[in-house]
Amino acid sequence: MRVLTVAVLVACSGPQPRPPKGEVAVSFEGRVENGPFRFGKDDLARLPRHGFKAVSPFTGKEAKFEGLAVTAILADVLELAKGGDTAVFHGQGGYAAPVPIAALRQLRPVLADKVDGVSVGEWRRDAAPLQLAWPNVEQPGIDSDPRMRWWWVAGVRKVEIQNWIATYGRALRVPQGSSDEARLGAEAISVSCIGCHMVRGVGGTRGPELKNAAVRRDPRAFTARMREHLAKASGMESAPETSSVAARQIAAFFHAVDLAGTRPEEEVQPPELPALPPPVPDDYGPRI
Ligand code: HEC
Repeated sequence: MRVLTVAVLVACSGPQPRPPKGEVAVSFEGRVENGPFRFGKDDLARLPRHGFKAVSPFTGKEAKFEGLAVTAILADVLELAKGGDTAVFHGQGGYAAPVPIAALRQLRPVLADKVDGVSVGEWRRDAAPLQLAWPNVEQPGIDSDPRMRWWWVAGVRKVEIQNWIATYGRALRVPQGSSDEARLGAEAISVSCIGCHMVRGVGGTRGPELKNAAVRRDPRAFTARMREHLAKASGMESAPETSSVAARQIAAFFHAVDLAGTRPEEEVQPPELPALPPPVPDDYGPRI
């Protein structure tokens, strides 16, 4: 009987982390059963791997990206806890990109440790130890999603599984009865700003926390400043300008939040993924 109980307990408790081999390269934390899972440099070779050609938005050039098959790791190596629907990839310099798990399932990116056969750090120094890369050559339609470029995260060391509504959705809540402009502002921030800036305590830490004051002081100057901000701050030549419409929407969001005081707020849903081409045939593991 005792043996049976132990066997059942072990069977139910899901995968267990093993101590990392070598210096820790990446950890999977947050809503992960029995987590955190830490993988050392010497563990990377035994994890599910994958590779594809892709055009990096940093260099604008095609290269072969090879490394950890994130989707297969989240399906086979560890187990997501209840409510985990978003993977936040923490990268170089305080950058933190929230990616829906649904997008990982559909597009199957890699955390690349090799680019064109050389170590990722030789390819771009900032990209080490792992570069989150997306198969935009095999699946050319995916670049039509403006979030994709912000999902190329360099220098990933930590992947945090979160619940979108409980984190980003709360931070981007708009007061009930807000204008459509404020609502669209929340969406624009979640697409283009939250990777580098915190809003109400949630987001990246590369730039300062975004607050109403910086925007309200002089809305025209804000719009003019924002136009080239994304290209300059991201180091991507092809980063889009922030249109004056988007800047106005972002300003409307902060204004609405400040006016709200204690008024009840509506949760903001994650922006929908646009229709994407059918996924390429499976070459590893089941889908999560
Ligand atoms: C790739 C990273 C990155 C992205 C994306 C980004 N920012 Fe920034 N932002 C920064 C950094 C770094 C600074 C501080 C240095 C500077 O002013 O350029 C900054 C500064 C700012 C400031 C000045 C803050 C102050 O009070 O002085 C504002 C306002 C701002 N960003 C707004 C935005 C908005 C709005 C978006 C989205 C449309 C955005 N940023 C997207 C990195 C980023």
